[in-house]
Amino acid sequence: MSSKPIGIFDSGVGGLSIWKEIHQLLPMESTRYLSDSKNAPYGPKGKEAIIKLSIKNTECLINLGCKLIVVACNTATTNAIDTLRNNYTIPFIGIEPAIKPAAFQSKSKAIGILATRGTLSSQLFHNTSLLYSSELLVIEQHGDGIVELIETGGLHSKEMLLLLQDYLKPMLEANIDCLVLGCTHYHFLTPILKELLPSHVKIIDSGEAVARQTKAVLKRHRLLNIKTVEGTNMLYTNGKKPVMEALLKPVLATIRTLEF
Ligand code: DGL
Repeated sequence: MSSKPIGIFDSGVGGLSIWKEIHQLLPMESTRYLSDSKNAPYGPKGKEAIIKLSIKNTECLINLGCKLIVVACNTATTNAIDTLRNNYTIPFIGIEPAIKPAAFQSKSKAIGILATRGTLSSQLFHNTSLLYSSELLVIEQHGDGIVELIETGGLHSKEMLLLLQDYLKPMLEANIDCLVLGCTHYHFLTPILKELLPSHVKIIDSGEAVARQTKAVLKRHRLLNIKTVEGTNMLYTNGKKPVMEALLKPVLATIRTLEF
């Protein structure tokens, strides 16, 4: 049993969607979150660069005393988690586009995946997608520009609306009934997507599943915090605090700027 914090990192503010789920499910656990906004987006960077950044974030979280690391970024998971697991003894939890649950739920047998180029081009994503390609049509769509807009406070901008309309078009033409959000930043688009999609299209987000998996892995490694007082939560960014504050509302947590 351990009262050390859980470490969570993302290329920016997207992983806050995962942090919120973990904090809600495990309020007694302390958390340390790294938003690498200075280096966002990871999506167009290529595998080697994504591995380097993921190692940098991991070392920072280990130095902050973390007992387990959640890679709250599909792009970092699909490109770097194998390297991280091979190089560090600390347990890692990752996140990948939820093709499997979408395949089970789809009646039209057509699903859409919105993810970064880095995720869509990864071997890990390719292998999973291949498993389901015989039974359903998978429309893959990169979300170029979305992360940049969210990172600069443009979540509710006209530009975002136009991008999304454009990205959803081929999916709607293919009659998808499930849309998989394959990037943790995209969670924050949910209210806008609901407006743009017909009501029968399910939006599939993996945040809750990642939180449940975190609990299960902590239990398996006997790392759960058994103290009965709430943990401490420190959110670090090497970017701008106001963007993070706006996405966190109404949850109160300490946000600090940090060079890493
Ligand atoms: N939140 C990251 C993800 O889940 C965004 C990647 C990026 O920075 O391009 O993939």
